[in-house]
Amino acid sequence: MAGNWKMNKTSSETSEYFAEFRPLVADTEDREIVICPPFTALDAAVKGALGTRIAIGAQNVARAKAGAYTSEVSGSMLRATGATYTLVGHSECRKHFGETDEVVLPRTIAALESDLTPIICVGESPEDRASGQTEMVLTRQFAKGIGPLTPAQFGRVVIAYEPVWAIGTGKTATPEVITEAHRIIRREARSRFGDEAAEALRILYGGSVNPGNAKTLMAQPEIDGLLVGNASLDPQSFAAIVKA
Ligand code: PGA
Repeated sequence: MAGNWKMNKTSSETSEYFAEFRPLVADTEDREIVICPPFTALDAAVKGALGTRIAIGAQNVARAKAGAYTSEVSGSMLRATGATYTLVGHSECRKHFGETDEVVLPRTIAALESDLTPIICVGESPEDRASGQTEMVLTRQFAKGIGPLTPAQFGRVVIAYEPVWAIGTGKTATPEVITEAHRIIRREARSRFGDEAAEALRILYGGSVNPGNAKTLMAQPEIDGLLVGNASLDPQSFAAIVKA
């Protein structure tokens, strides 16, 4: 159960969040929780999660290890904060900052080389869906961003299916739509990496998840977890989703 805070919360707001959130999820030891704050709040989040099983993740990772890459943050810098996950290829990075499928792969490899678990985001745009291109888009995103990984690398990634039309819109995808997309992703995983790797792969759903729909979503056998944006900003609402 992962929370993506996007560009929200200062470090002091992060500390306040964890003080409230920790006791709310104290009895959820059977599930993994990841929170991805902005870079500037990673330290506060790691401190806030100390002594719990809550993991902390970044929202992106540089391709390069170090050097002249103004504005980028490397995997080893992230790992040094205590973060253990990072998002890669989020649709907002694709939309606003020109990220492409070609960039997703080196970022994913950079994360793995720094011992961070990448949560690789894929998903079709509203236009893709309207024109019946969803399967083709998911297949392409898998082939370019994930397929070239080695089997050992693939065994360490998490994939999040986030249809762009469902992100921040209040239009949650139906369980049928999500199941179909997750099956396409798992089918691609099977054909490239084999049955065992495909079954072990965790596929999260993201897009307007809230405490009201989380239970129905988690009841779908194809949905292994949720990636939550807006509703993860409030400790009470994210705790309710984690418990769903
Ligand atoms: P949302 O965002 O839950 O606010 O729709 C999800 C995401 O962007 O990861």
